Amino acid sequence: MTTPVSLKVGDKALEMPVKSGTIGPSVVDIGKLYAQTGMFTYDPGFTSTASCESKITYIDGDEGVLLYRGYPIEQLAEHGDFLETCYLLLYGELPTPAQRADFNYRVTRHTMVHEQMMRFFQGFRRDAHPMSVMVASVGALSAFYHDSIDIADENQRMIASMRMIAKFPTLAAMAYKYSIGQPFVYPQNDLDYTSNFLRMCFAVPCEEYKVNKVLSRALDRIFILHADHEQNASTSTVRLAGSSGANPFACIAAGVACLWGPAHGGANEAALKMLQEIGSVDRIPHYIARAKDKNDSFRLMGFGHRVYKNYDPRAKIMQKTAHEVLNELGIKDDPLLDIAIELERIALHDEYFIEKKLYPNVDFYSGITLKAMGFPTSMFTALFALARTVGWIAQWKEMIEDPGQKIGRPRQLYTGNARRDYIPGNMR
Ligand code: SDX
Repeated sequence: MTTPVSLKVGDKALEMPVKSGTIGPSVVDIGKLYAQTGMFTYDPGFTSTASCESKITYIDGDEGVLLYRGYPIEQLAEHGDFLETCYLLLYGELPTPAQRADFNYRVTRHTMVHEQMMRFFQGFRRDAHPMSVMVASVGALSAFYHDSIDIADENQRMIASMRMIAKFPTLAAMAYKYSIGQPFVYPQNDLDYTSNFLRMCFAVPCEEYKVNKVLSRALDRIFILHADHEQNASTSTVRLAGSSGANPFACIAAGVACLWGPAHGGANEAALKMLQEIGSVDRIPHYIARAKDKNDSFRLMGFGHRVYKNYDPRAKIMQKTAHEVLNELGIKDDPLLDIAIELERIALHDEYFIEKKLYPNVDFYSGITLKAMGFPTSMFTALFALARTVGWIAQWKEMIEDPGQKIGRPRQLYTGNARRDYIPGNMR
């Protein structure tokens, strides 16, 4: 047991237990603080607050380390594939060949959506943002799958998990097809997970679609990089929604909504738009100056991170993947990639970015790669959400299966009016 922390409040000296994890910062258990002092802690943005105990993902922001169940992201991205990562995040161990075959079979058998979902899509405008369609259609799954929303039933939790992981790509592809007025493409069970998704997005009835294995492998690796990331904003949203007992589809829909924000998962779309707005390498200094100007709300999208105060390990792999995809597609010089590389070079030598420890994050290079693959900018965050679904599900399951789990209900520092009496309208 680690030495408790003492807190002096007035003439009282309180001892608070300290809990240590496997690696990383210990935590001070302040659960009894209010009862003992009548005071709350105050930490908007949770910069120094651990909301839960977890065994799933670990980040060392200073060293630029990311581990899924203890395995370094670089090794999983290099040697594994996305469905293997899904199994690892859900079950805690890498699958044996037999476990892997069974998991593949279970996911593959859930890739179709209820046929009436097609009519559900007809209600959207064609130009609806894919993330608005994803928030709605993922939430709507609870209207179609009543047999897997009893969260107290372990079997139903696992079926709902399989359905979410399996159906998200189908719904995301439908959102894309609907936005471009092309017919939906059904999943094809003899394709691997990511090849199936590419085919549902880019196949047309008039000709045979041939999966480009290099692109499929690159996108599968991108999904691995985005699969989970500790208690980020959208994962915390899923946990908080799940703590009330809401059904898993509704919780994941809440996560999709939160991820959409440009400060979070929406940054990949915003980063590409920023590179397009910069337009040429000679305009970079102007935008760097804007990013440093306190009176200008402009920020370098795809830069900075709450936890990483070093290079985001995912960004390095993303940059390598961008080159791989552009080479495969014969795109010799992508002006946006040139701008991104020069912007990164300048920023990493600029005192402001060095002092504030601002490095490229996972969103900085992903847009260039996804755009080269043929995805419209509006689909970038939907692809992030597709990959993050397994992380949300794994974290939701961990919370639900925690015997000590209770509803999340933060308190506040109230600075509004003290009690006052009502004044009738004619006397105001
Ligand atoms: C993701 O949490 C996760 O793990 C998220 C994620 C995941 O996998 O789930 O990693 C995915 O969301 C990555 C982040 C994507 N967002 C962006 O790229 C948007 C641009 N980045 C910023 O909005 C910002 O860096 C955040 C939101 C990512 C982090 O913000 P913090 O931790 O609240 O830091 P901050 O806003 O307090 O910034 C610290 C300082 C500030 O200056 P001061 O007020 O101290 O003078 O750094 C400055 C900021 O102004 N700063 C930037 C900047 N990011 C921070 N200045 C210019 N450009 C930036 N991008």
